[in-house]
Amino acid sequence: MIDLRHVNKSYLQGDTAFPVLKDINLHIDEGEFVAIMGPSGSGKTTLINIIGFLDTAFEGDYLFQNENVAAFNRATASKMRNQHVGFVFQNFSLINNLNIFENVLIPLSYGGNRRSDVKEKITELLHSVGLVDVETKLPRNLSGGQQQRVAIARALANSPQFLIADEPTGALDSHTSAEIMRLFKTLHQQGVTIIMVTHDEHVALQSDRMIKVLDGQIISDTEVSHANN
Ligand SMILES: Nc1ncnc2c1ncn2[C@@H]1O[C@H](COP(=O)(O)OP(=O)(O)O)[C@@H](O)[C@H]1O
Ligand SMILES: [Mg+2]
Repeated sequence: MIDLRHVNKSYLQGDTAFPVLKDINLHIDEGEFVAIMGPSGSGKTTLINIIGFLDTAFEGDYLFQNENVAAFNRATASKMRNQHVGFVFQNFSLINNLNIFENVLIPLSYGGNRRSDVKEKITELLHSVGLVDVETKLPRNLSGGQQQRVAIARALANSPQFLIADEPTGALDSHTSAEIMRLFKTLHQQGVTIIMVTHDEHVALQSDRMIKVLDGQIISDTEVSHANN
């Protein structure tokens, strides 16, 4: 599904190009649960921004279902994101003055859906992430873990082909992190493809495949053994 070949990315500072990703070769299949680890500044966010069609200014090839992502213009990239990718961030990125219903509605409102169909769908989405009766609440009236669940429901709204989560447990205590990881595992078992960046080895060990990045290069790519659980 996702196929990066010799991907390089540099940021310009003045006249100097600073390489941030160096010859990335990466293949991710539908149905995988991948964790990307590495120190701060190693290029993890840059990499997943490319994977999620947020950044198409790179060198090399990215084939998504055999389409050439480097050739996407802004409108195509944005349409591909809305159709195929769900994003989850460290700080939830909910809109504070919209209630939970309206937050989950945002990605659905692009598709010309009828409000009555959407109402049922939003209740189902919230239910699937373990939330009931929160539709009329504001984000600030929910706990951090609940807000992240709303963000995950929103990310799933258009039935994306894959979820990208950038440090999804980075702002949560260890107990709440474990709950969110259980939710990711359940979603994965239901068929959702997940690509997650994390600093936390405990969190990464919940995935099936651990990719380590250092200084813009993939230094290891290993299967995670679940033999003992
Ligand atoms: N928009 C940008 N302009 C210039 N440099 C950037 C930009 N975004 C990231 N960088 C630099 O690229 C490197 C990798 O950043 P990033 O991908 O955010 O790393 P990580 O997510 O692993 O912490 C860092 O040195 C960072 O300072
Ligand atoms: Mg980052």
